Amino acid sequence: METTAAKKVLIICYSFSGQTSNLLAGLTNGLESAGITVIIERLRPVKPLRFPFGSVRATAVMMMMTFFRKRIPIAPLSDKCKGRYDLMILAGPTWSYHPSGPVLSLFDRDGSTLFADRTVIPLISCRGYWRMHWFGLRALLQKSGATVVNRIVFTHPSREPWRTIGVFLKLAGRCPERSKFLGKYYPRYGHEKKQLEEASRFGAMLGQALVEGKDLASLNFQTPLAIIRGGGSNQAG
Ligand SMILES: Cc1cc2nc3c(=O)[nH]c(=O)nc-3n(C[C@H](O)[C@H](O)[C@H](O)COP(=O)(O)O)c2cc1C
Repeated sequence: METTAAKKVLIICYSFSGQTSNLLAGLTNGLESAGITVIIERLRPVKPLRFPFGSVRATAVMMMMTFFRKRIPIAPLSDKCKGRYDLMILAGPTWSYHPSGPVLSLFDRDGSTLFADRTVIPLISCRGYWRMHWFGLRALLQKSGATVVNRIVFTHPSREPWRTIGVFLKLAGRCPERSKFLGKYYPRYGHEKKQLEEASRFGAMLGQALVEGKDLASLNFQTPLAIIRGGGSNQAG
């Protein structure tokens, strides 16, 4: 009989400004609370990227280049990725409606060896526009031979247009949340505490399903706390 300890999940991730990492901390806690062994592989750009970009111009240039799916070369993967896993989670931010540059480089170099015959759930962190990213990522995974069984998407909670303005200014190195005017509509950059707790709940749910051998496609990760339609609260907390 298989034991709980036999279930292993590999998380391959990239996080530029810490948002995906925050969600993964919650998700990992949840998985581990269900007795799952979690192994994390972080994608490391060969030339480290600095958050924030530092200027409006540098941010605009980066957004333009990433719209055309600019690759960011990454260091070789560790041997952890060669092991056998019950599930792989590929996690990272949306960059100009696409997967981020490091994730695109991962597919170019390692896609078919890494993902062939694997069961994968992508996790996306974004300000709000994830559909094109999801469709593209799913296609890349399927082309690499993976079975994509579900998706986890988290959007930022602030309302539009403040969410877009806030993210842009934050990437440019400004502090919109501290501005007397913008701060009223944009209290923070990124995901809120309740969403990190939701990520933890998702982890526990996923872990339980793995242990019980349930169909992972039947799990509902599309909750109002994860995907906040058109932006949600403008309140802190
Ligand atoms: C270059 C760049 C382009 C982005 N483009 C989008 C986008 O098209 N849609 C979106 O919803 N968020 C976009 N974002 C926002 C990020 O997806 C969002 O801030 C995410 O939570 C960051 O996750 P991370 O901190 O793990 O990198 C972009 C961010 C960057 C740096």
